[in-house]
Amino acid sequence: MSAGHIQINNIKKIFARADLNSTLLVLDEVSLDIRPGEFVSLVGTSGCGKSTLLRIIAGLETATDGVALCDGEPINGTNPKRGLVFQEHSLFPWLTVRENIAFGLRATKQYSFKKELVDALISMVGLEEFADSFPHQLSGGMQQRVALVRALAISPDVLLLDEPLGALDSFTRMVIQEELVRLWQERHNTMILITHDVDEAIYLSQRIFIMTPRPGRIIRELTLNMSYPRNRSDSAFVDIRNIILKQLHFATDTHEDYNL
Ligand SMILES: Nc1ncnc2c1ncn2[C@@H]1O[C@H](COP(=O)(O)OP(=O)(O)OP(=O)(O)O)[C@@H](O)[C@H]1O
Ligand SMILES: [Mg+2]
Repeated sequence: MSAGHIQINNIKKIFARADLNSTLLVLDEVSLDIRPGEFVSLVGTSGCGKSTLLRIIAGLETATDGVALCDGEPINGTNPKRGLVFQEHSLFPWLTVRENIAFGLRATKQYSFKKELVDALISMVGLEEFADSFPHQLSGGMQQRVALVRALAISPDVLLLDEPLGALDSFTRMVIQEELVRLWQERHNTMILITHDVDEAIYLSQRIFIMTPRPGRIIRELTLNMSYPRNRSDSAFVDIRNIILKQLHFATDTHEDYNL
């Protein structure tokens, strides 16, 4: 698939702070070029502007300065080609699990064609028993699992994932990480993941961007050439984990590629 090319050129984002009669510089000179079908992660401390950047790519927010392009076209509002899984889960409370997952397929007239896919996605996240339950009858982690597979069901060109697994226990998290790799290798959509979990970023990504604390800038880019599925305990994995943790703790002004 050649669709799903994201280019971010020198983006700056300033929020007005009406309460304090001031402004807040959240993103500064952020540039990224994400190839179609690439899996990248953004890591950085809380409040550095990761969600803001993802919302700009989704078309939910506009940059104060700079350009965001998808397949060469300026991003102007949301588009089903760019799916987003929010940090806070966001299911439709009046629809069941099955209906929530099917919602996007119905909207794009794919439901009858992919009915089995809905069942497969429900069982992938272990929610067979809750397929006909409503969101308020689920735990937070279960709701997050539904939100993730709802976005996967539509198979967008670009999938924007804002801490999608944050509320899950570590076992479920690893199972879904494996599924994400499998689905991505099958569909070749562009994946842009925000995560606080360094291992998750290394397990999944071809490139990892490390951001500075606010204002968020890309301070370092790591290219990971390890094959999939990855082994969390092999030495290349451990080496890159150390590099990222060190960088997050002692942010300096280096910017380089790291080839493993
Ligand atoms: N709509 C808004 N209006 C004003 N300020 C905002 C708005 N959205 C975000 N901010 C501010 O921008 C900064 C970055 O927020 P953002 O949500 O992008 O951070 P983040 O990196 O995703 O953090 P976290 O890891 O905690 O989710 C924060 O200081 C936040 O207060
Ligand atoms: Mg965030």
